[in-house]
Amino acid sequence: MHALIYLSKVSKPLDKDDVIEIATKAAIKNKQIEVTGFLSSRKSLFVQYLEGESDTVMDLLKSIKEDPRHDFLHVIHLKNQPNRHFANWSMRLITNADESRILPDDNLISVIQDIASSDYEPTIVDAQIYTIINRISRILYLPKYTR
Ligand SMILES: Cc1cc2nc3c(=O)[nH]c(=O)nc-3n(C[C@H](O)[C@H](O)[C@H](O)COP(=O)(O)O)c2cc1C
Repeated sequence: MHALIYLSKVSKPLDKDDVIEIATKAAIKNKQIEVTGFLSSRKSLFVQYLEGESDTVMDLLKSIKEDPRHDFLHVIHLKNQPNRHFANWSMRLITNADESRILPDDNLISVIQDIASSDYEPTIVDAQIYTIINRISRILYLPKYTR
């Protein structure tokens, strides 16, 4: 298992439908390669969380990085991740409404941006990202077979 989160900046403006299309196509492909995660976009930035088998995630990261629609700013590889957090999310697009449930006084991109651009120790960065991931998983994620 490997998990990572990255921040990127669009290279030219994308509208809501473009982002929906990216997430929809990503979900179809990720299902085949058993990668799960979420995508959020705000203004000109993306944050994406990916988890799956290590080589698969690294290969996918490489092709996402080469995508001319955006430029990478930060990638944070998370350590010691034994299990998936989002086994049923092939690529869940996190909406603004979702975000106000997760972070009532803030938004995901600015939180990740602050963490990624800080000079924190890697372990502190990991711990902060896990806090967010756990919040998303607690508040938004519903495993398939539970009600
Ligand atoms: C912000 C962003 C996130 C993306 N996420 C994924 C993803 O999770 N999975 C995926 O297969 N492609 C994703 N893509 C698309 C890839 O960059 C690339 O276009 C795609 O993997 C190419 O697939 P193909 O060679 O089968 O056409 C993403 C693109 C962008 C701009």
